Amino acid sequence: MAGPSVRTAPPNSYLATAVHGLEWVVAAEVAPLASDAESLDLARRKVFFHHEGPPGGPLGLRSADDVFVLVGTIDDLGGTRRDLEALPGAVYQLDWLSAVQAVGQGREIPAPSSFDVVASIDGRRRYNRFDVEGAIGRSLEKLLGWRFLERTAEGRVGGTSDLTARVFLEDDCALVALRLAAVPLHRRDYKRSTGPATLHPPVAAMLVTLAGPPPGPMLDPFCGDGTIAIEAKLLDRSLEVIASDIDARRVGHTRANASEAGVEIAVVRRDVAHLRPEDVPPLGSIVTNPPWDRTVTGTGDLDRSLAAFWDSASGLLAPRGLLCVIADTQLGVPEELTRRGWTIGLLQRLRLSGRIVAVTIAGRSGATPELAGPLAQWRQRAVRAGVVDEQGF
Ligand SMILES: C[S@@+](CC[C@H](N)C(=O)[O-])C[C@H]1O[C@@H](n2cnc3c(N)ncnc32)[C@H](O)[C@@H]1O
Repeated sequence: MAGPSVRTAPPNSYLATAVHGLEWVVAAEVAPLASDAESLDLARRKVFFHHEGPPGGPLGLRSADDVFVLVGTIDDLGGTRRDLEALPGAVYQLDWLSAVQAVGQGREIPAPSSFDVVASIDGRRRYNRFDVEGAIGRSLEKLLGWRFLERTAEGRVGGTSDLTARVFLEDDCALVALRLAAVPLHRRDYKRSTGPATLHPPVAAMLVTLAGPPPGPMLDPFCGDGTIAIEAKLLDRSLEVIASDIDARRVGHTRANASEAGVEIAVVRRDVAHLRPEDVPPLGSIVTNPPWDRTVTGTGDLDRSLAAFWDSASGLLAPRGLLCVIADTQLGVPEELTRRGWTIGLLQRLRLSGRIVAVTIAGRSGATPELAGPLAQWRQRAVRAGVVDEQGF
């Protein structure tokens, strides 16, 4: 019986992972780093690219969930437990040392080193992710002479890992990679104070990017722990950013997290239903995720619906200002905005924390809001590649 076949990735091959539905936003951020934007490849939840030089650029991606150096691919890996026995032989054929070297160009890897393995499995098979992680980890331990940190019974890695091998198993193909950073890119150091329904930071960065460079200050009136406001400021330090929330505790979180991030944001405690044009300068954009009535409910004068927010939002925006909202599709945001006379520029569905949510960009000027810079081309490319459709996926 023929065993699996192995393909080592060409040098400088990277993989950025993305929230499904917004792969094209990650592609637009990756493209300037890629040695050849044409060869950049979009797949479901993945953006493949080549990057020459030190990995500082890929490490600085804000919209990606995570970024990896590709080691290679193991094809024709069967789905029975016996097929797993062929995995060590395949692992030995891959060029791990070059990949470790590439990671080492971006950060210091302490010696002696330890590592862990994270696998995800798509498709039916007779073994689970822990079997794959164990088989790869034990082979790699012999090959590199590093300490393999196995998972505890609770599924936690037993110790601090210096390097993470990542395996994406889809049907009979295993994509093997090394995480570039010491921790996943989506984990932000600044996010120390958090409450319920806090937003995934790469999604916050993507919302700000989608709203485009605003023609004036940006407001997040449901700021929670400040993720959108802080990501906006980290993307553009010259932008004036205002954050507000009804909950004093969350307002405190935003202040604390902004201070951790080293950014200045005007933070106020306010029921958005009472926010008046005289309270803020004419806004270039409102970028926000309102309460979804699931983990967090609307309170104050939004305890029944978001109507008071939609009413106040248009009066706060400058003439060409945009509203960019992420919310559960069941909230019917685009329908509500259309009914109230807004023009929808983008409606994009995505999968977030197991739910289908929608990003809506809308304006009041009558002109249809357009995506800034090369975003529209990347979206079309993702549609052509079958990764998303015109509505998301
Ligand atoms: C989904 S959370 C926002 C999470 C935030 N994007 C983050 O990353 O932490 C919704 C927020 O809306 C706030 N909220 C609820 N009703 C409000 C109201 N009437 N005015 C202002 N904020 C309100 C809640 O306190 C909560 O922080």
